Amino acid sequence: MCGIVAYIGYSEAFPILINGLKHLEYRGYDSSGIALLQKGQTTNIFKKKGKVKELERYCEGKDMTGCLGMAHTRWATHGEPNDTNAHPHVSMRRLFTIVHNGIIENYGKLKKDLSEKGYTFYSETDTEVLANLIEYMYVQGEVLDAEQAVRMALSRVVGAFGLVVMCQAEALKLIAARRSSPLAIGIGQNEYYLASDATPLVEYTQRVVYLDDNDVAILTSNSFTLKTIDVDKEKIPEIQKLELSIGALEKNGYDHFMLKEIFEQPETIEASFRGRINTKNNEIILGRLTDVMPRILEAQRIVLIACGTSWHAALIGEYLIEELARIPVEVEYASEFRYRNPVLSSNDVVLAISQSGETADTLSAVRMAKEHQAMVLGICNVVGSSMSRETDAGIYTHAGSEIGVASTKAFTAQVTVLTLLALRLARLKQTIPEERFHAIVTDLLAAPEKIRTILQSSNHIQYIANKYRDAVNALYLGRGYLFPVALEGALKLKEISYIHAEGYAAGEMKHGPIALIDNNIPVVVVAPKDRYYEKVVSNIQEVKARKGNVIAVVSMGDNRLKGMVNDVLEIPESDPIVTPLLTVIPLQLFAYYIAVLRGCDVDQPRNLAKSVTVE
Ligand code: AGP
Ligand code: GLU
Repeated sequence: MCGIVAYIGYSEAFPILINGLKHLEYRGYDSSGIALLQKGQTTNIFKKKGKVKELERYCEGKDMTGCLGMAHTRWATHGEPNDTNAHPHVSMRRLFTIVHNGIIENYGKLKKDLSEKGYTFYSETDTEVLANLIEYMYVQGEVLDAEQAVRMALSRVVGAFGLVVMCQAEALKLIAARRSSPLAIGIGQNEYYLASDATPLVEYTQRVVYLDDNDVAILTSNSFTLKTIDVDKEKIPEIQKLELSIGALEKNGYDHFMLKEIFEQPETIEASFRGRINTKNNEIILGRLTDVMPRILEAQRIVLIACGTSWHAALIGEYLIEELARIPVEVEYASEFRYRNPVLSSNDVVLAISQSGETADTLSAVRMAKEHQAMVLGICNVVGSSMSRETDAGIYTHAGSEIGVASTKAFTAQVTVLTLLALRLARLKQTIPEERFHAIVTDLLAAPEKIRTILQSSNHIQYIANKYRDAVNALYLGRGYLFPVALEGALKLKEISYIHAEGYAAGEMKHGPIALIDNNIPVVVVAPKDRYYEKVVSNIQEVKARKGNVIAVVSMGDNRLKGMVNDVLEIPESDPIVTPLLTVIPLQLFAYYIAVLRGCDVDQPRNLAKSVTVE
């Protein structure tokens, strides 16, 4: 995930900025840059692909003086990671310099309009479009100053931003604004600091103002004015005291990145469907698939390839696409698919799913599929990754950098994108009625809020986890869409707590696993109210009859199951299509708390890598 640091005051800005970027590295990024207001009031930019230390090395020996500047770590969404696309970006006449966190969803239309007005662009980013829009407002509109130009431009923007702007004509000023992407302002003595979170601020000041959505802040070395994008009237800033120590801040106060990423899921699921659901005309917009959609619709089958957690998302994808769009789907482990000489032709569409976009087995399977002339698509979380470059088209999950080795928010983002794809295909093939489509979309949009409700029960989940911390084996059961969720819950437990855990289709229990049942093995059953409910209740009764301990994920208020099992993890009711997103949350937390109680290295479990880039 990206980061911003800015400074205006009487100290040298460069050390503050580069130090601040280092504090933001934990968020994950692919490139970084700095802009400094220097001698003769000129703004100079220094930016590089790669780590902050590459930027630092690039700046060595150069004039890095100046008391006003801003810096950025980029997590690419538009335009691959390279020096040109790195921030800061400047407008065509070099009047405005900008750093930006987030996504300008309507950048395509804005870019087209600006091009027709004679604007040219040097990068592929949406951010550069915003710089030129601000400049356009400044030179063409009837605005009086840079602040108004920024406010007018942002009133035309659809999307998420946290940004800082410098204006060549009003040099001794920083203008900041936020919508969905956080910005904090540190207040010093005749100096101000800006950052994406409090981490870079805590060593300079304890006095912080967190911008609200649509706030605009205008900073000079001795003034701080707060307004909103739409209202040209001063707001009184609410100054808060920073309590956290810098160590904790790197994880925004969470003990582990994994826990932070579990709690980020309402926002990251929103980010994965932002701009892709048009409720007015009940449309799903997957812009990057527009050109290939005809070929997907006429495909004989869709082959989903992935590894690990992404393979579990793929299995949910199979159920979704087949149920909603009636297109045959197969799911393959990439490590198997690449070697077993599968039957594959140009009538097939292969869809690779990978958080990192660098998994060796998945990349090899992609290359093999292309050799067979199949259309190869990708669902990926990293812009500019190998997979995103090697597939014919794809969809980004926009979950932001996932640092914990155990995948959580990337999984739910993948499932969200697969749900959107299944809905899009169903819409085009008219395989589901309008009201069914609308019901699913309504529940998908409601999922983030329902997940917030589940996250509020984290203390209860921690209490239950404590009861099972010493388990040696565990069994996870689910049916339908929740069978892959059972697999994912088992993988979470085994990979971070080292307890042997197996996921099974609940209907398979009598074909073997039931031999494992006794009072030593916890059996986690995913059992919300859906069409399989009665069958799953029977499975639970079979486990209980053999003294098994059952932890059931149930629909809120299910007193029948509450009276039958040892422990319940409750989730709000939801459309079965959306229930995988809800049921996985308690399983993530259950695994996390058990692993912490067992003293395991949750963020870097033994023997595991975040991305398996070797076979
Ligand atoms: C999941 O928690 C693991 N980190 C692992 O199974 C992972 O999902 C797998 O290696 C695939 O990674 P990818 O999505 O980056 O391709
Ligand atoms: N959308 C912008 C880009 O791709 C900003 C990405 C970020 O948040 O770092 O450059």
